[in-house]
Amino acid sequence: MTKQHQSVLEGEILKHLNLREGSLIVDGTLGDGGHTELILKNTTGVRVLAIDRDIEAIKRAGKRLAPFKNRTILVHENFSNIKTILKKANVMSVNGLLLDLGVSSPQLDSPERGFSFMRNGPLDMRMNSAQETTAADLLISLSDRELALVIKEYGEERYPKRIVRAIRKAQTQKAITTTHQLSNIISSVMHLSRPTKIHPATRTFQALRIAVNNELDHIKKTLNDSIEILQASARIMVVSFHSLEDRIVKNFFKDEEKGCICPPKIPICACGHIARLKIITRKPVSPSAEEVQNNSRASSAKMRVAERIYV
Ligand SMILES: C[S@@+](CC[C@H](N)C(=O)[O-])C[C@H]1O[C@@H](n2cnc3c(N)ncnc32)[C@H](O)[C@@H]1O
Repeated sequence: MTKQHQSVLEGEILKHLNLREGSLIVDGTLGDGGHTELILKNTTGVRVLAIDRDIEAIKRAGKRLAPFKNRTILVHENFSNIKTILKKANVMSVNGLLLDLGVSSPQLDSPERGFSFMRNGPLDMRMNSAQETTAADLLISLSDRELALVIKEYGEERYPKRIVRAIRKAQTQKAITTTHQLSNIISSVMHLSRPTKIHPATRTFQALRIAVNNELDHIKKTLNDSIEILQASARIMVVSFHSLEDRIVKNFFKDEEKGCICPPKIPICACGHIARLKIITRKPVSPSAEEVQNNSRASSAKMRVAERIYV
């Protein structure tokens, strides 16, 4: 049994959710159920509809949340289908939405899931094991140009072409099917002049994971759809773990906070744009030094919160 996921920013999440008895909150990233349990333990009449695309997460969290069975609905789905999920559950609108992005510790620590270069296993990386394409498949199906672009854009890697050349050379000998095979190939061509804090394969693994799970598109769609499902004063809070995610959230909140976006020269508004969100956290909320000391995986967490307004 892998170690339980340690939830991040618990105090800050509770503080910002503005929980009121009778509320319905959506936890779009159930994971090990830590945040859902936090909400349920600190209230008596709040219900949580919790979603995860990983069936293992639904099973594990289901056991943990058994004492709160009458206040939880667990759904094995992609959070980007939030509107359909709510429709099926006969829910028109909700009082809060939480997204704690990325992967959970059980996912990262299970070699057979293939998320980590620290553990040898199949080069998989699918959050939903029912999905067809794995990371190993992407290494075969993407062209050199596409693969380099994925590594550059999603991994913010400085040497994508060098890595692709090494991957192609290795593939002429043998198919790349394991995490250690890939991380060794990358390490063999990354002769860094200065030692860095991160492993040379970190960025490429992040890039492949984002691509396999189409993570950024799902976040964008969900943010857009959230506007339609949040009641007045309901809050949306997103915890992200790298700058690509955080940028999407920051820009979305900023755009939705704006009223008219016509050029200043136009005397009467023609765009019809109205503000739909009020930003609650101007700067992202980060974990305290104490939290990071107890949970190193929290170190890159950044939380942004906004509130639905109807004008
Ligand atoms: C960081 S963990 C969440 C941990 C959880 N908040 C806790 O306290 O235990 C992220 C979870 O979100 C899930 N996830 C990521 N993207 C998803 C998506 N688009 N739809 C549904 N679940 C997703 C992952 O499978 C993973 O279990």
